[in-house]
Amino acid sequence: MKKLQLILSFLLLLVGVGSYAQKENLNTVNQLVVIANHTGPIISKDIYGHFSEHLGTCIYGGIWVGSGSKMPNTNGIRNDVLFALREIKIPNLRWPGGCFADTYHWKDGIGPQSNRASIINTNWGGVTEDNSFGTHEFMKLTELLGCDAYINGNVGSGTVKEMAEWVEYLTSGSESPMTKLRKENGQEQPWKVKYFAIGNENWGCGGNMTDEFYTSIMRQYSTFLQNYSGNQLYRVACGPYGDNYQWTETLMKDQESRDRFQGLSIHYYTVVDGWGYKGSATKFDEREWFETFRLNYDIDNIIKGHKAVMDRYDPQKTKGLVVDEWGNWFNVEPGTNPGFLNQQNTLRDAITAAIHLNIFNQNADRVKVANLAQVVNVLQSVILTKDDKMVLTPTYHVFRMFRDHQEAQLLNTDLRCEDYVFNGKKIPAISASASIDKSGKIHISLANLNPNKEIIITCPVIGDIFKTVTGEILTASEMGSYNSFEKPETVKPVSFKGYKLRENILTVNMPPKSVVVLELMK
Ligand code: AHR
Repeated sequence: MKKLQLILSFLLLLVGVGSYAQKENLNTVNQLVVIANHTGPIISKDIYGHFSEHLGTCIYGGIWVGSGSKMPNTNGIRNDVLFALREIKIPNLRWPGGCFADTYHWKDGIGPQSNRASIINTNWGGVTEDNSFGTHEFMKLTELLGCDAYINGNVGSGTVKEMAEWVEYLTSGSESPMTKLRKENGQEQPWKVKYFAIGNENWGCGGNMTDEFYTSIMRQYSTFLQNYSGNQLYRVACGPYGDNYQWTETLMKDQESRDRFQGLSIHYYTVVDGWGYKGSATKFDEREWFETFRLNYDIDNIIKGHKAVMDRYDPQKTKGLVVDEWGNWFNVEPGTNPGFLNQQNTLRDAITAAIHLNIFNQNADRVKVANLAQVVNVLQSVILTKDDKMVLTPTYHVFRMFRDHQEAQLLNTDLRCEDYVFNGKKIPAISASASIDKSGKIHISLANLNPNKEIIITCPVIGDIFKTVTGEILTASEMGSYNSFEKPETVKPVSFKGYKLRENILTVNMPPKSVVVLELMK
């Protein structure tokens, strides 16, 4: 019945919008209908999560400088990075990997710094890892950021005992050898740990396991991960890469396996032209621009494919999909260590971020966590650092602009738009999503992917009256514009006035290659 009413009001609206549009000469080819009184699921704030691996200068230099550093720091953590991440309301941070996680033995990274073991970071450049950033330093980082900890355990080369003891060390308030050790190392009270992953990419760098083998081992490891002292672990099982639905099927099909995790991870990177030559992050043509977005959009189908498998076994949606690695992966910056995955970040990456975040919002019924790879200096990062300098990337600005979607309710929307056509291939030219927050404000996030054309989009808002609008826009002169240490503000958001609101219909003039977020108030 409710559905029928909704369809009827929608049809009436379309007729209304049609005549209004005719009268006002509005473009209805590009139209986003926003149904303000028909709300969907809450958009988990953790969709806006980040990922920090012991890789290149993500941790060392990018986040951690040590308390003896001349750089302004709090407990050894760079202040500039702390402040910037707080500003985007970082909800959770994943650590210590990635592939590094399945080589990491947490006891190497506790206790007096001088006693910590130095090891070889075999995945990332073969550099010495002195373990000066370990469990205590990471938990301090999350405390200073005010975000949740997402810790990735070691299945590939660790033991069940080692993983179980880590959880005990972190979260137990009872008396035990592990809690005694924690206290000796200066932490009296147990920490709260929200997310704990049982391995990373165990089909690859995490042990080259088959789906059946991993599922069995996951059951074993998970059995010994206890909920101590009121801490409720959200256990994340290692899922597949991309569209490998078979892996998801194997994890989901038996009740006994399903009962052992709360979330299932998937990874998906956008790699233009394959894993060999991945293209430059800054010097690219329109073909690479277009291909990047065409591949970005694929994550929607991939999510829907995994959702379909999960829906069969878990129609109540008790298990979350955890997209804990996503983003653009290009060639490293010329002259940098190939194992450090350092890449610049342009307006193209900003639009990539907008496309992904809109897709995660729209799939908020199942996607509960997502983590951009990675937070500082690695892949599509939000922050770049060089010694004591820091720049905020275009991707950073999109996370700041989209932050009001966190914990808001997804709104039902209907998007009709023209295609962006290149070399005979086409993709939707507009990406969009909308939510309503607890105070009744609507946020509409839009991206115009076409670098050559302004698009006028009409957004009728049904179900409530909105009188005031404010907006912000991110765009730049070139597709490859970026923020450098010399010119850190080339790409940054500014106030946006290219809209009209009349009779509850918002008309937005989207400049070519832009991201716009609008806030509607009553
Ligand atoms: O983010 C870089 C690497 O990509 C991670 O370590 C791994 O999980 C993935 O293959």
